Order: sequence, then C-alpha cells, then structure tokens
Amino acid sequence: MDKIVIEGGRPLKGQIAAGGAKNAALPDIAACLLAGGVHHIYNVPRLRDIETIKGIMARLGVVFKDIENGLYVNASDIKCHEAPYDMVKTMRASILLLGPLLARHGRARISLPGGCAIGARPVNLHLKALAAMGADITLEHGYINARADRLKGTRVFFDIPTVTGTENIMMAATRAEGLTVLKNVAKEPEITDLANMLRSMGAHIEGDGTDVITIEGVKDLSPSEHTVIPDRIETGTFMIATVMTGGDVKITDCRPEHLGVLIEKLESVGAEIKTSDRAIHVKGPKTIESVDIRTLPYPGFPTDLQAQFMALMCIAKGWSMVRETVFENRFMHVSELRRMGADIEINGAQALVRGRKNLIAAPVMATDLRASACLVLAGLVAEGGVTDVHRIYHLDRGYESLEKKFAGLGASIWREKVSPQ
Ligand code: EPZ
Repeated sequence: MDKIVIEGGRPLKGQIAAGGAKNAALPDIAACLLAGGVHHIYNVPRLRDIETIKGIMARLGVVFKDIENGLYVNASDIKCHEAPYDMVKTMRASILLLGPLLARHGRARISLPGGCAIGARPVNLHLKALAAMGADITLEHGYINARADRLKGTRVFFDIPTVTGTENIMMAATRAEGLTVLKNVAKEPEITDLANMLRSMGAHIEGDGTDVITIEGVKDLSPSEHTVIPDRIETGTFMIATVMTGGDVKITDCRPEHLGVLIEKLESVGAEIKTSDRAIHVKGPKTIESVDIRTLPYPGFPTDLQAQFMALMCIAKGWSMVRETVFENRFMHVSELRRMGADIEINGAQALVRGRKNLIAAPVMATDLRASACLVLAGLVAEGGVTDVHRIYHLDRGYESLEKKFAGLGASIWREKVSPQ
C-alpha cells in the first residue's frame, strides 16, 4: 500500500503532455476480440485498469505484447469465454467484453460487475439491448450467461445515455445480421474513438457523437492500427490543479474541443485560457471566483471532473453549488475535504461549497479514482504541513504516475511505501 505525500503552496509551472484516454483505451482493447489477426493500438496509457483488462483477455486466449508506445494484440485464438468474478470485481468495465464475445463467438460468461463506491452501476440496459438483438441471457450465481448464434440488427432506445452501454451494443452490432439503430446514445469522445477504430476494421457505423447511431452488420472484420485519443479527464485534472495553485501550465498532446464546458467554467472563475489545435495554456488567477456546476452526459460538465472541481471551489471566493446528476453516490470525497477544513454541506445530490481562504494539510483517505485525484489537488494548496493521501491504488487505476507529473511542474510531492499495520 502506498501513500502520496504533498507539501502544499507551490504554483504549478511548465509544460506537460496528456496521456492516452483510459476510457477510450478500454473499449478499444475489448474491440480487438471482434477480429482475429494482429491489432496495433498506440497511445495506450500504463494504468492498473489497462493491466486488468489485459489480464482478463489473456485468460480468454488473447496474446498481448508491449510495443513502442502501445500494444500488439492478437485475438485469433480464443479458447475461453469467461470473465471470472475475482477479476471483474476489480474493474466494472470488464462488461465491455460481453458484446464482442457474443458478436464473434456467440457466447460469453461474464461476472455481473458489482456496484462500486460511486453507485449501484447496474448493466440492465446492456442486457436489455442484447436480448433485443436475439441473445439468450440468463443470470445465475452472479454471472451473466449469454448465447447467440448470430445477433440480429434491431432498434434500441436507451432509457439513459450509457457510455459503456453504447460501446457494448455498438461493438455487438458490427457483426449482427442487418441494421441496428441506437437512440438516446452517449456522445462522449470515447464513443467516437471506438467508432473510428471499428470503421478501420471494416465496420459500417454512422452517427457516433450524435443522439442516433446506425450500424450495418458485416460478416467479418479485420484487425486494426489505431491511436487512442488523449485523456480529457487527465487534461482537465491538470487544468484545475493549475488554477488552484495560481500556476501557469501548458498542456500539450490534448484535444481542447473535448473540454469546452470546463474551459468556460474555469474562465468564469478567473483563469486565463488559450487554446490551439492540440494544446491548452492555463494561467491561474490571483482570486478564484465561485461558480455553480451540474454534471451531465457529454457535452455537459463531466461527472469525472466533479470531485476535482469541488476542490477548486473549496478555496474560491463565495459559495458554489455542485450538483451530481449522473451517479447517486459521488460525494465520497466531501468527508475527506472537510478534514482539511473545507466547508461543504450536502443535501441529496447537491453540495453547497462555502469557499475558504485556504485548506489545512491532513492525512486523508482515497475512496475512488476521481476522489483520490481531488485529494491530491487539495494537498497541492493545503497549508500548515504535509498532506498524506492514503489508498492511492484507487489513483493508479486511472492516472499514470500523477505525482511525478506534478513534481515535474514544481510541486513538492512524492510517493511513500506504507507498511501494513
Ligand atoms: C463510464 O462509466 C466511465 N467508465 C465512467 O468513468 C464515467 O464516469 C461514466 O461513463 C459517465 O461518464 C468507462 O468508460 C470505463 P454510464 P459507465 O453507463 O459506462 C446508469 C472514471 O472515473 N446505468 O454512462 O459505467 C448508471 O448507473 C469512470 O473513469 C443504468 O442505470 O457509466 C449511471 O447512473 C467512473 N443501467 C448512468 O446510467 C445501465 O445498464 C450513466 O452510467 C447502465 C448505466
């Protein structure tokens, strides 16, 4: 078990490159199951979640090799179709194996992903859509058993725009018989990244990034050469940290067009932001103004940046309202922020943040991936000593050496081993 130790009070200055997007790389790697042969995927981030999906897919018979800035993936010889509970429980995104396995192999046995710290996170919409495509789905002993000789194209209306639900059904439909029309789909950039990879494999997909996606099934797909898009949540985390510390940072290799609403929010708190084709230059203000946010599916404010933005509002002038509309329990970071002196009042799905002049260094505990990033950001500005962020295995799921990246921008931050009590 490691912890991250931070001495706050240093403004971030310099240049940092965004890494590949975790939430694009995961479906992209799963999509390799749709075609035999050798795929090459570039700009894959080195993260725990990536190692997890590689581990599960290797058990199915997929061969992985590290190559320069990416992965060699050979899914020619699938010997097993089961994703076991002990691996799925560590990463819910394993549900993304269901669609491709069904589409190419006609069967799958995937452990039902349990809930997690941020919510129940059911997969009912994934299963309802696959059943509508003709899959025979049964649930027993905590597993999803699915079979389908050949999925059939159909019309699916998602009750909620689900990101991995859209990805799962889009992958399943690429090899289904006939036309599939998906409505009320998620529009996140990661959906379009996956659609681009599937098109490079020979899939017929249109409408990704809009409310309606149509897929004309084909009998076979071929392996791909694909580069994963930059991580907009990592980029947004760097941007918020720069504003919090009153810094001056240029983030390169990123996609400013994926961060429209965050740029608008940070400008309204007083930051100076300049964007070019692949870079964002952020300068923090002397005084941080408060502003309300409400999380929504893309292109609304990303729920994956809510905790980080709340840390910023904790040191803003005035009060702000943070509304979380996507997940039912995504305020786990609030109790830890309060231990650092934050003044936050929760009322159901909204949190009233009364800005303070500063936060106070303290030992805190991470509870989930984005909450851990929020606590690191709070530590960067906390006064009166060092902040210890414990249980940072949560952080390592979605950020590659975050403490080294912040140290490279001038922060006093390092990782320490914690001996088990
Ligand atoms: C994806 O999760 C992301 N994960 C999450 O990122 C992200 O927070 C989330 O989308 C929302 O943007 C990956 O892409 C691997 P949803 P996902 O299905 O697909 C409900 C991070 O920090 N729902 O879009 O699981 C669900 O409960 C992670 O990187 C159903 O009710 O999220 C939620 O309230 C955290 N039934 C809402 O929809 C279903 O069958 C949106 O969830 C599916 C979802």
